[in-house]
Amino acid sequence: MPKKIIVTGAAGFLGSHLVRELVKEKNNFVIGVDNLSTGLLSNLEEAFNNNNFSFIHADVSQKEIIGHREFKGVEEIYHLASPASPKFYQAFPLETIAVNTLGTWNMLELAKRNRAKVLYTSTSEVYGDPELNPQTEQYRGNVNTWGPRACYDESKRLGEVLCYEYYRLYQIPVKVARIFNTYSAGLRNDDGRVISNFVVQAIQSKDITVYGDGSQTRSFCYVDDTIKALLLMMEKEEANGQIINIGNPQEYKIIDLAYLIKKLAVSDSRIIFKELPENDPKIRRPAIDKAKRILGWYPVIDLEKGLRETIRVYKEKMGISKNGELRVEN
Ligand SMILES: NC(=O)c1ccc[n+]([C@@H]2O[C@H](COP(=O)([O-])OP(=O)(O)OC[C@H]3O[C@@H](n4cnc5c(N)ncnc54)[C@H](O)[C@@H]3O)[C@@H](O)[C@H]2O)c1
Repeated sequence: MPKKIIVTGAAGFLGSHLVRELVKEKNNFVIGVDNLSTGLLSNLEEAFNNNNFSFIHADVSQKEIIGHREFKGVEEIYHLASPASPKFYQAFPLETIAVNTLGTWNMLELAKRNRAKVLYTSTSEVYGDPELNPQTEQYRGNVNTWGPRACYDESKRLGEVLCYEYYRLYQIPVKVARIFNTYSAGLRNDDGRVISNFVVQAIQSKDITVYGDGSQTRSFCYVDDTIKALLLMMEKEEANGQIINIGNPQEYKIIDLAYLIKKLAVSDSRIIFKELPENDPKIRRPAIDKAKRILGWYPVIDLEKGLRETIRVYKEKMGISKNGELRVEN
């Protein structure tokens, strides 16, 4: 019997990369679930060529999803569904809260009925604007309930609580990945997160917009490294009932990132400064000792290598039409 695996948020950035890896194993039967709110079916084009992949267009926040007949006998659930870019979660705050709370609850209940394993993709945003650097899993965070990022940060935190309770009450093998900024050219051109913004602006010779003075820091993990970590988390029993930071501990100032992308893209863009959004975190860097110890994992793709590949593929996606205009596809 093939192993039945559900990936929620399958048409999104990370979901589609994960599906691509999972369908390579012929004994897996992968069911992608997505409501296509921020995801694109075109991300799954390759997956649709596999007999061991099927897709369900549905909202995982709806309770009926638990009883879906295709889900019977599921062994593994990767719960990725949720807008992740501030641009999208701030446009859909209530849907974001619903998917991280009710959606997570539904996936945990589905796991309970089938004795399946669950991996929940939480986020470094649960640390808010941290007072500790690097952030360890023990750090409880500095999050604001009353601001434009709260719908995401706080609903992810409640999602973690639900995972904890299903693990404690019903011994469901639950794993929580706190993912730090991950990137590749798989991000939508209009995704709004910093790397896609800067790369697209640099390629189009548009102004590169830095928010604030650019002294705030972030850590960037190439998508291949993040996906490897998620697969290992699902596989390792030692990760059951654990929260693990997944990210690249190399930390960069945003202004340095802007200059690096400008250089690597050989761009004549200007770098300009705009007002820092409310509650924007000033620092962000994962402590990954736990990931090393439990998963034997650490990222191997450094920023410059990852950016070169990202810029190459974005350039391919955004050809120049005959009349000299840029053709932009997402
Ligand atoms: N990419 C990162 O750097 C990063 C960092 C931290 C955490 N994460 C987490 O990883 C997960 C995936 O992030 P991503 O970058 O791929 O985001 P994404 O927006 O590209 O993908 C999310 C997917 O979930 C789908 N979705 C949203 N609400 C849904 C619902 N109610 N029902 C079904 N599908 C729904 C969207 O259509 C989309 O395809 C998210 O949970 C996010 O919070 C990502």
